[in-house]
Amino acid sequence: MKPHIRTALPGPRARAIIERDRRVVSPSYTRGYPLVIERGSGATVEDVDGNVFLDCSAGIAVNATGHSHPEVVDAITKQATRFLHMSGTDFYYDVQVRLAEELATLVPIQGGVRSFFGNSGTEAVEASIKLARYATGRTAIVAFLGGFHGRTMGSLALTASKTVQRRGFGPLMPGVYHAPYADCYRCPVGLTPDGCAAECLEDLEHRVFMQLVSPDEVAAVVVEPIQGEGGYIVAPDQFLQRLRELTRKHGILLVADEVQSGMGRTGRMFAIEHSGVEPDAVAIAKGIASGMPLGVASARTDLMTWPPGAHASTFGGNPVSCAAALVTLKLLKERLMANASEVGGRLMAGLKELAGKHPLIGDVRGRGLMIGVELVRDRKTKERAVDERDAVVNLAFSRGLLVLGAGKNSIRFSPPLVLTKEQADIAVGIFDEALGEVESHAR
Ligand SMILES: Cc1ncc(COP(=O)(O)O)c(C=O)c1O
Repeated sequence: MKPHIRTALPGPRARAIIERDRRVVSPSYTRGYPLVIERGSGATVEDVDGNVFLDCSAGIAVNATGHSHPEVVDAITKQATRFLHMSGTDFYYDVQVRLAEELATLVPIQGGVRSFFGNSGTEAVEASIKLARYATGRTAIVAFLGGFHGRTMGSLALTASKTVQRRGFGPLMPGVYHAPYADCYRCPVGLTPDGCAAECLEDLEHRVFMQLVSPDEVAAVVVEPIQGEGGYIVAPDQFLQRLRELTRKHGILLVADEVQSGMGRTGRMFAIEHSGVEPDAVAIAKGIASGMPLGVASARTDLMTWPPGAHASTFGGNPVSCAAALVTLKLLKERLMANASEVGGRLMAGLKELAGKHPLIGDVRGRGLMIGVELVRDRKTKERAVDERDAVVNLAFSRGLLVLGAGKNSIRFSPPLVLTKEQADIAVGIFDEALGEVESHAR
């Protein structure tokens, strides 16, 4: 179904729900535009007023197999009729073991993998932090500027994307240090990508490790192979490779936060695989169960040796979520990961072509169906086009395309991995119109 807008947005039904929401739901959520969903199928979403949208947000990079994929719904229904919950913390059930077995074959770590199950991305990161401290006997954690790792008190201490996410909540977990990320469009050390040897990591080596914390006190470096919330920023392979060498040299664990970049989105099961780097642990959530809540911390078997009671979760590894995850993984392997590569290439080419006619576009980057477009007021100064970005996102919505902002001035395309080439072309077309309209106002 093509996007089709038949009412003013929000329509009357949507307006009524938003009004009720405003009275009783936390205002801390970041709703950029007023979409009130009624139903979804594949990469298409219909709102409560019958308006049809093309979804390039996937509920923040979650609906990997598309909205309500029939095989996923079937697995959920079957599991729901058998039992909904029994707590994997205190009891056993086959579907959780099967998922852990499957992950052990997919997570890019050699020599055996164990998995801890929670309910969300932040819990996957929390578990990784706790495991790293427990396994190494060290306390400090290194993360990167611009990174997003969640909003509970441990992972929030690692998050360094926007101050609004931290403001008013301190003091945060101590012992966390931040280093510059490999943002090649705005290289923190003023170099160009050609010939780059990840010189930005010298800050970690020579400032953090020499002036702030001794590396033998650092339990883990937690890194997003592609920064998500921070702006869809792709770290070059050499950054991750050099980080691996540095962490290995100091006996520090390398934790890949693949909450957003994982589960086939980049055309590989995990984004870190593009660099050939083997992490010690991986944090997984979002796309793994097609929308059912599930977070996983997977780690080398010899690291995950904490004793009974050390870490657990009542709801973690919910059987319905595990059943959804098993089908999701099957669908990713069968076709959707390859589709992410193929259709992602088409979407990327289309967006890069738009850069030829829209001066607002400063950079188009990404892998597979994880693509960011950074908007600037001036390509030379790279002045961030913050208001223009918000306007483009809103205009895209009003024309039937759902995208989300990322970072201060970027737009993320994170569609369901079922997106077709035709839908990619439609997305580019609507984006083109939205950019054109914002640029015409700026003149
Ligand atoms: C890389 C990354 N880590 C962690 C999280 C936190 O996940 P959740 O919102 O499920 O707690 C996110 C969420 O956007 C994320 O993108």
